[in-house]
Amino acid sequence: MSTDVSTEEALLRSVEELGNASDFLDSPSVARKLGIGHAALVDGLLKSLNAKLAIRLEPVTHNRWEISAEGITYADTTSPEVAFYNTVKEIVDAGQLCMPDQIEKKLAKQVLARGKQQALRRKWIAIDKGTKAFLLNDDAQVVDDVADALRTLRDQDGAPDGLPSDMLKTLKSRKLASLKPFKTFKIFEGERLADARKEQATELTKDMLESGQWKSVAFKPYNFNAEGKPTSGGYLHTLLKVREQFRLIFLEMGFEEMPTNNYVESSFWNFDALFQPQQHPARDEHDTFFLSDPEYANVPDRDYLEKVRRVHEEGGFGSRGYRYDWSEEEARKNILRTHTTAVSSRMLYLLAQEKEFKPKKYFSIDRVFRNETLDATHLAEFHQIEGLVADRNLSLGHLKGIIHEFFKKMGMSKLRFKPTHNPYTTPSLEIHSYHEGLKKWVEVGNSGVFRPEMIRPMGIPEDVTVIAWGLSLERPTMIRYGVRNIRDLFGHKVDLKAIQTNPICRLTF
Ligand code: PHE
Repeated sequence: MSTDVSTEEALLRSVEELGNASDFLDSPSVARKLGIGHAALVDGLLKSLNAKLAIRLEPVTHNRWEISAEGITYADTTSPEVAFYNTVKEIVDAGQLCMPDQIEKKLAKQVLARGKQQALRRKWIAIDKGTKAFLLNDDAQVVDDVADALRTLRDQDGAPDGLPSDMLKTLKSRKLASLKPFKTFKIFEGERLADARKEQATELTKDMLESGQWKSVAFKPYNFNAEGKPTSGGYLHTLLKVREQFRLIFLEMGFEEMPTNNYVESSFWNFDALFQPQQHPARDEHDTFFLSDPEYANVPDRDYLEKVRRVHEEGGFGSRGYRYDWSEEEARKNILRTHTTAVSSRMLYLLAQEKEFKPKKYFSIDRVFRNETLDATHLAEFHQIEGLVADRNLSLGHLKGIIHEFFKKMGMSKLRFKPTHNPYTTPSLEIHSYHEGLKKWVEVGNSGVFRPEMIRPMGIPEDVTVIAWGLSLERPTMIRYGVRNIRDLFGHKVDLKAIQTNPICRLTF
């Protein structure tokens, strides 16, 4: 609400005219004098002048009569009983019998009902027993005392002065007005009234200091209760917040992050190196996005390539292989990587090229692509979290232990494992966690021990085992932030406001 300058001027002038420090103005009378509503005066003028210390306010709580919406319509026109009486009188004066159906046509439903009831009660009219017509009572003293009283209350801002207590009781029982607490203010001169008449400076400038002007300038007092503007700038997407938490968990556990900055991958690293046969349905274009340009990738070193060919065609390391003609062309096809295990296979190959094997703990969190039918829980691009440990003498017990430790850091300590199949791990275990909120077991990840057919051709030493597990980033994020549809989390339908206001994420305990 804002009030114009002349209103402010008029108010400040009256405050100035107050003689003593103990003299004050009353907010209701000021409002009346200025011709504005009390609320407008308080919110539009008094509060800001008080903040500038131009005035000082002292609140006073009184009771005052507040007129109901129904009461206001009567104050604006007449009470329903008068409306009813006048209508009956019009009909009777015209020499007609005043029958109910006749009067019904002339009055609004509510006025009719209330008016009839009150006019009968006050004996202004009667009903003729025989004809049922309304008759005027000759002795009736018809005055609109109810509407008058409401108007008086209105003119006096709810003060009942001069109104008989009977009338107030009537207004109350007819729900036309009721007593309500009401806050007004005593307005005193403020300690900086004079300054308020001048323009107030909001900051101290170099010029003011140099010219000495600062001594005479009136400064606007600080409002320590003002809320600052919300800061704007970069916002972390919800997935990035959760990713950071997973990253911290891995780092805490001594894992190194793998470089994941290539969405385009060769089929070789995504599938062939992982001992996934070339006719595997996942390698179909219904599941995988293939690139048309460049269609083919370069192959890694010949020696390793031939070892991969051999393990697919003939087997080795205790395996019979798949017994088909492995195609180098198929392996060179470029695709969008379908899982971050493609990154793990590259990294394990690099690790195997080191002169001396050193145990490693690696992780990655990044985007993968699948040619999915989109629905509330599936997108064609999503994120995977993957961890792997390469060391001597690792067993399934180590895998389960490390997975327990990993999930415990997110508060998930009830885990179960279920046998499953991956082309590149054996044994393979699905990870299920008991969801305390949903009161059921939910699948939270996949894991296994990388097959010899995968890691031995790379040159990983005989006594080294590689255990690994993976999960999606979206699933825990949706659970954490209560997102039901994945499209509200990721993609063009994401609500930017939600991104800006989402709370920080703390997964760890
Ligand atoms: N790559 C698997 C997937 O896409 C996850 C996984 C990672 C499984 C590592 C076993 C070992 O679901």
